[in-house]
Amino acid sequence: MTRILFVCLGNICRSPMAEYVMKKLVKDAGREAEFEIASAATSTEEIGNPVYPPARRELAKHGISCAGHAARQMTRADYDYYDYLVGMEPYNIRNMTRIAGGDPDGKIRLLMSFAGSNEAIDDPWYTGRFEEVYGQILRGCRGMLEELGVRS
Ligand code: 4NP
Repeated sequence: MTRILFVCLGNICRSPMAEYVMKKLVKDAGREAEFEIASAATSTEEIGNPVYPPARRELAKHGISCAGHAARQMTRADYDYYDYLVGMEPYNIRNMTRIAGGDPDGKIRLLMSFAGSNEAIDDPWYTGRFEEVYGQILRGCRGMLEELGVRS
């Protein structure tokens, strides 16, 4: 079992988009039984809230549902439980490392690092660029699956 936690600031835009895109990719590859995939926030700002409507609509455009999502904050226990904790931008990585109390196991990564890039996925909550973010997330998730030996 490979456990993946996607993390962003609010857990209502980027990290749930990555969670549901990744769930779709592993399902389409027939590998869903091998993965546990979830998402969380670094902040307490949006706890309990569903996916932000423009992010939900962007997922729906690609046939992906995020129904039932409720934002939650990352905990130190998540660091032990998950194999990969994947942030969207360097600011997330700093906060994730603080919550985890360090990264002794090297589990914390930037999503785009799996696509051979160090680019940040900028917050669409501020930029409004949900389509561009979807494209970045898809590339990052595909790269991650390639690294994990899953054809997607
Ligand atoms: P996300 O976007 O980190 O991609 O979920 C945000 C959502 C809410 C806030 C910030 C970013 N906020 O400050 O409430």
